Amino acid sequence: MPSILLLGVSGLVGSHLILALRDHCPGLPVTVFLRNKNLDVYLYETAKVDKVVHGTFDEKDKIVALAKTHDIVINVGSSWDVPLSEAIVEGLKQQPDGKKRTLIHMSGTGNFVDKRWTDGAFHADTKVWSDDDTEDMKLINPEMLNGGPDTVVLNASRDSQIGTFIVFPSGIYGEAAGPVPALGVIQLVFREKAQELGFVPYVGDGSAIFNCLHVKAITPFMLLLLGLALQEDKSQRSVYERCFIIGGQEMPWKAASEAFAKSLHAEGVIPSPEARSVKLEEAGGGELPMLMASNMRLTSPRAQRLGYKNEEVSLEEYLKQYDQYLN
Ligand SMILES: NC(=O)c1ccc[n+]([C@@H]2O[C@H](COP(=O)([O-])OP(=O)(O)OC[C@H]3O[C@@H](n4cnc5c(N)ncnc54)[C@H](OP(=O)(O)O)[C@@H]3O)[C@@H](O)[C@H]2O)c1
Repeated sequence: MPSILLLGVSGLVGSHLILALRDHCPGLPVTVFLRNKNLDVYLYETAKVDKVVHGTFDEKDKIVALAKTHDIVINVGSSWDVPLSEAIVEGLKQQPDGKKRTLIHMSGTGNFVDKRWTDGAFHADTKVWSDDDTEDMKLINPEMLNGGPDTVVLNASRDSQIGTFIVFPSGIYGEAAGPVPALGVIQLVFREKAQELGFVPYVGDGSAIFNCLHVKAITPFMLLLLGLALQEDKSQRSVYERCFIIGGQEMPWKAASEAFAKSLHAEGVIPSPEARSVKLEEAGGGELPMLMASNMRLTSPRAQRLGYKNEEVSLEEYLKQYDQYLN
C-alpha cells in the first residue's frame, strides 16, 4: 500500500487529518514527522500511526530522506517555509525514475487578498479568485503571503515526475482534535493581536470581506484529494488544474473581530468584549492588520466538483458555543 508522510500532525489541521486517516484509510501506513516528543504514545496507540520521527523543519537531511522513502507527502505544517518545501521536493525527486510520487501541499488564501484597497472597507470591484480559472492560478508568485512554497511546489510539478496538489483554505476556526490545543494560524493571530493591543481591532469601518471555514470541513476534502491522488496519473491534468480553493462563510472583518473580542473577553484575555476600529497604521505588527485592511474573495468550483462542502457551524456560532462553555 502507498505510504504517507505527514508534516504538521500536532497542528489544528493535522490533528484532525491524522484521525481521519486512521478511520478512513487504515491500510495506508503513515509516518509523522514532528518536534514534540511528548506525543508518541498518543500517536502510536490512539492515532495508530506506523512510525514517529522527531525533528524540526530546518533538519533538511531528515526531511529529504523521509520524502525519498514515502509515496505521498502531505504538508500541513507550513505554508511559509520555502526550504521545507524545497527539501520535500528534493526527496521526492530522488525516488526511482518512473515511480509515482505525490505531494499534497496546504497553502492558504492569504495569497488572494486584494491589496489595491487597504482602508478596511468593502470594495465591490475586489478580484474574486477561482480555483477553476487556470489563469488565476498562474498568477501565484513568491510575493504572495504563501507564494514562496507554492512556487516551489508548482515548479516541481512542471519540472519533474512529482504529482502535486495545492489546497488553499481560507481562515480556519475550530478546536484541535488531539492532546495539543493548537489554535492554528488565524485563531492564534487574533489572540496575539488582542494581547498586543489589549483589544481586538478592525480596520476602518470593517466592512472588508473575510472568508473562513471550520476545520472539520477540511478533513473530508483532504480525504477526497487523497483518493484522487491515489487514482490519478499526474499527466492527466496541468499543474494549475491541481489547485483547490476551499473557503466558507464570507463576513465583514468587523463581525469577525466582534466575535473574537467577545470570546477572548470571556476567556479573560482582554478587558472589554467590544472590538475597536483603528487605522491600519495603529493595528500593530504581524500579518493580521494587512489581512484586515483588505478584501479577500474566492470561489471554489473545482473543489466543489471534487465534493467540497462546508456545512459546519459559522465562526460566530462556534465562538459563541465556546463562550458559553467558558462561562
Ligand atoms: N489556520 C488557518 O487559519 C490557516 C489558514 C490558511 C492556511 N493555513 C495553513 O494550513 C496549514 C495548517 O495550518 P494549521 O492552522 O493547522 O497550523 P498550526 O496549527 O500552526 O500547525 C502547524 C504544525 O506544523 C508544525 N511546525 C511548525 N513549525 C515547525 C518546525 N519548525 N518544525 C517542526 N514542526 C513545525 C507544528 O508543530 P508544533 O506543534 O511543534 O508547533 C504544527 O504541527 C499551515 O501551512 C498554515 O499556514 C492555515
